[in-house]
Amino acid sequence: MKIEGKEYRTIWFDEKNQVVKIIDQTKLPHQFIIKDLKTVKDTINAIKAMEVRGAPLIGGTAAYGIVLAVMENYDLEFIKKSSEELIKSRPTAINLQWAVHRMNNKLSMVNSNDLLNIALKEAKEICDEDVKFCENIGLNGLKIIEEIYNKKKDTINILTHCNAGWLATINWGTATSPIYHAKKKGIPVHVWVDETRPRNQGANLTSYELNEEQIPNTIIADNTGGILMQRGEVDMCIVGTDRTLSTGDVTNKIGTYLKALAAHDNNIPFYVALPSSTIDWDIKDFKEIPIEERNSEELSHIEGLDENNNIKKVLIYPKKSKAMNLAFDVTPANYVTGLITEKGVCEASEEGLTKLFK
Ligand code: MRU
Repeated sequence: MKIEGKEYRTIWFDEKNQVVKIIDQTKLPHQFIIKDLKTVKDTINAIKAMEVRGAPLIGGTAAYGIVLAVMENYDLEFIKKSSEELIKSRPTAINLQWAVHRMNNKLSMVNSNDLLNIALKEAKEICDEDVKFCENIGLNGLKIIEEIYNKKKDTINILTHCNAGWLATINWGTATSPIYHAKKKGIPVHVWVDETRPRNQGANLTSYELNEEQIPNTIIADNTGGILMQRGEVDMCIVGTDRTLSTGDVTNKIGTYLKALAAHDNNIPFYVALPSSTIDWDIKDFKEIPIEERNSEELSHIEGLDENNNIKKVLIYPKKSKAMNLAFDVTPANYVTGLITEKGVCEASEEGLTKLFK
């Protein structure tokens, strides 16, 4: 997708300089900075610091992390240790371990002379595949938006939470892909963007990328969705996911569950968009999903531009107060109208997912 009219992906390999390039998302929307990752340690730090984030992009970055590990040291022990550290860098998005396992499986079948070429090819394939899958998610989700538009014949208001846009994937996004496809098709859409405290991925990233693609959008505080739904100002919700269980339960950014409850109470369709790399086929009980708890400073401090256009961080809580920062919650399948995947739209259930993917 575009930034200032120029096409980008969120991650790519620079053949000439033999480095991995990323857009540093901690600096958006105020600064657009492309950063080099030169070692596997750099990729681990980029994932931990959320310079890259969003389940599919974390997976793509981990795949390139393995490439950088191979470039540093052909030793299989080093690659194994790097893989373990990559997997530990963030706990909730399953794409991370999925990508690391896929890379390791591939590398276990080749002799050491081919290691780098094969690693690079596989990392590129993981990223290209994600682009294709997200494009298909868009085409499948477009049919749902079209159906609502054919009845309403007016602007479709879509609410989204966090950033499940192209910045969270390699391109297109998951939740935003149907929106980008609707715009291409000439369907008028407007997006309610949940601010998504504490990291403000909605305000800082979703609104930013929608602006760059000329999609009308309005940022709302995280608690506003309910009243908008009661007033009939939301036609549908589409969110992403970091891990979807085969039962159809969906883990996503903290606050998603409350939005699903409000949508359910107001009979508003609540869709979750995901590539199959985000499905966890093993865990059956959502209480077993590792939920990331991040530094409480993300809540107590806020960052923005000061009057001199410098980025500044300030404390907004009482100095003596404690804060707790859980990053994800789980929306049970019964609140999910459907899962929009690269293979089609299915019911959020074992049966629905099995029909599409097994
Ligand atoms: O903590 P983040 O910013 O990595 O969380 C991202 C989300 O929760 C996204 O909605 C999710 O990864 C889906 S991304 C297509």
